[in-house]
Amino acid sequence: MSSRRVFLLGGANTAFIGKGHPDFVWKNHPDFGKRENPTLEEHLASAVHAAFEVTGVDPARVDKGYIGNFVAELFCQQGHLGAALAGSHPALAGKPMTRVEAACASGGLALACAIDAIRAGSDTVLVAGVEVQTTVSARDGADYLARASHYRRQRSIDDFTFPALFGRRTKAYRERYGVSEEDIGRAAVKAYGNANKNPLAHMKAKKMDLATASAAGDKNPCFLNNAEYAPYIKMSDCSQVSDGGSALVVVSEAGLRAAGKTYADAIEITGYGHSTASLYEDGDLTQLWTTRSAAEKAYAAAGISARDVQVAEVHDCFTVTELLMVEALGFADAGQGGALLRDGAMDIGGSIPVNTGGGLVGFGHPVGATGVKQAIEIWKQMKGRAGGYQVPSAPKVGVTANMGGDDRTVMVTAYQNLE
Ligand code: CAA
Repeated sequence: MSSRRVFLLGGANTAFIGKGHPDFVWKNHPDFGKRENPTLEEHLASAVHAAFEVTGVDPARVDKGYIGNFVAELFCQQGHLGAALAGSHPALAGKPMTRVEAACASGGLALACAIDAIRAGSDTVLVAGVEVQTTVSARDGADYLARASHYRRQRSIDDFTFPALFGRRTKAYRERYGVSEEDIGRAAVKAYGNANKNPLAHMKAKKMDLATASAAGDKNPCFLNNAEYAPYIKMSDCSQVSDGGSALVVVSEAGLRAAGKTYADAIEITGYGHSTASLYEDGDLTQLWTTRSAAEKAYAAAGISARDVQVAEVHDCFTVTELLMVEALGFADAGQGGALLRDGAMDIGGSIPVNTGGGLVGFGHPVGATGVKQAIEIWKQMKGRAGGYQVPSAPKVGVTANMGGDDRTVMVTAYQNLE
C-alpha cells in the first residue's frame, strides 16, 4: 500500500429536503405553483461551489473527481453524471470525472476512489454525491430503490421493498435478543432530536417523542402490506426520501500545501475497509456481517480498535439498522445496541456520539449523497464546525459506515483529527 497520506480538507452539504421539510414545495405548501424545488443539477452545483468556498481550494487545482449517485436515470431521467460533475463548476470542464454506483453506498465508494487516487499520485480530488427522489411518489420511489436489493428475488416482499427487508431484520433481531419496540424507538427520538439542532436536516422542524416512536398510531402508521413484517416498521422507523447534494475535497501533502493549508485545517483519512457480499443470498438477519468485515479492515488499516472511536456516522436507513451498525462496528455486543442508546452513550454528549446531525432518519437520505455527507459530518465535529449539535470536546478519532442494499456493500472509513 502507498505511504502517501490522505487529508480531508472539508466540504459542504446542501439542505436535505423532502416531504416534512418546511421549504419543500408540494401540493399543500403555500408556495405550490409559485416556485419549484431544486433540481439534481442545482443540488450538485450548490454542494460543489460550497465545498470550494469552505475549503478555499482553487477548483483549477482539482486533478479528478468522483460522484456518487444511485438511480438518477429513474428519478430524474439523467445518467452520465461524471459529465454533470464536470459541468457543476466552470473550472472543472475537461478534467476526468467518474460516476460511482453502489446503491446507498455510492457516496462512500466515491470517497474510496478518491482515497485510492491520492495514494496513486493525485494531489487534489473532488468527491460529490447527489440524489433527487421526490420527483415520484414514495410508493413508486420504493420500486426504484428496490433495485438495490436482488430485484428478481426480493421485489415482491412488499411494494416498499427496503422497509420490508428491514422489518424482517427488526422482527428477527427483537425475537433473538428480546429487544422492545421502545428500545428501537429511542433511535428515532435521538435522530429527530439531533435533526432539530441541525439547520440542514430534512426533519429539522419535526418533533418526535418516545411514546410516538414506540407504538403505531394514526399519525405514525405501520404501512407495509406484508402481514408478517408490517408490525415491525412504522413511518418513524424509516430514513427519509430526501433530495440533496454533498461535496468534499481530499488532498495529498502536496495538495494541502498547494491549498495554503496546514495539518490543523484538515483531518486525516487513516484507512478504509470495503466489503461486498453476494446479492443473491441473505445472511444472518440479526447481524451486519459485511459491515463487521469492512470495519475490521478499516480498523486494521488505521491501526485503531473500536474503543478508540470518539464519534461515528452510521448508516441508519432504518432505526434497527443503527443498533445493528453500532454492534457491527464493535461499540456494543450483539443485541446490546439498544442498551448503549438507552444509557445515553450515543447522544451528542455521550461517550460515543452517533449520527449527531440526525443520521439518515433525521438529517435525511438523498441516497448518493449520504456517504459523502457522513465524511463531512466527521470533519465538522473534529474541527468544531457542527454548530448547535457540536460534541463538547473535539473528537480525535472517528468513523463512518455507509451501506448499500441490505448489508451487501459496505464502506467503513477511519479519520484522525490533526492539530
Ligand atoms: N394511515 C395508514 N396508512 C398510511 C397513512 C395513514 N395515516 N399514511 C400513509 N399510509 C400508507 C399508505 O399505504 C401510503 O401509500 P399510498 O399513499 O401509496 O397508498 C404509504 O403509507 C406511504 O405513505 P406516503 O406516500 O404518504 O408516505 P411518505 O411520502 O410520507 O413517505 C415513507 C413515508 C414511505 C416511510 C418514506 O419516507 C420511505 O419510503 N422511507 C424509506 C426510504 C428508503 O427505503 N430508503 C432506502 C433505505 S435502504 C438503504 O439505505 C440501502 C440501499 O442501498 C437502498
